[in-house]
Amino acid sequence: AVGALDEFPSDTYKAKVITIVEGIGEAGKTTVYVRRGSETLGEDPEEYVAISTRCAHLGCPVRFVAAAGNFICPCHGGVYGFEGEVIGGPPVRPLDRFQTRVTGDVVEIGPRFSVTSQLEPVRARDPGEFTGGIWEYLYPPRPSTAPAP
Ligand code: FES
Repeated sequence: AVGALDEFPSDTYKAKVITIVEGIGEAGKTTVYVRRGSETLGEDPEEYVAISTRCAHLGCPVRFVAAAGNFICPCHGGVYGFEGEVIGGPPVRPLDRFQTRVTGDVVEIGPRFSVTSQLEPVRARDPGEFTGGIWEYLYPPRPSTAPAP
């Protein structure tokens, strides 16, 4: 659980820390950027979007810069748009996402998944791996990753 429903606007992200690997302390935590679905972007306002901070180039932690409305990677100049799509630099695919669901009045975060350049969900990939089209067959995901939602 990352917070109450009314905590998340649709026009910007709220940063939340979640545990993705139990039992290893701080190393098992990551930051996730969460917002409500935006009708302007054609999304369902009853659903929530959770963007991973792991850069799709080599895995550095990206940061959402609200003034620009972009995600910026400090390592090699990767820039992602508001929906996590690549708009500059070396990343090979959009930022990964986490599954979300609403339980009562609370937003919950689930497993990570990757998306194609059209933001279609696919099985989670490692940094540097392409998604979509022929890449799904040339470089299939590790079997241990969760299936796409
Ligand atoms: Fe983000 Fe290289 S790790 S641009």
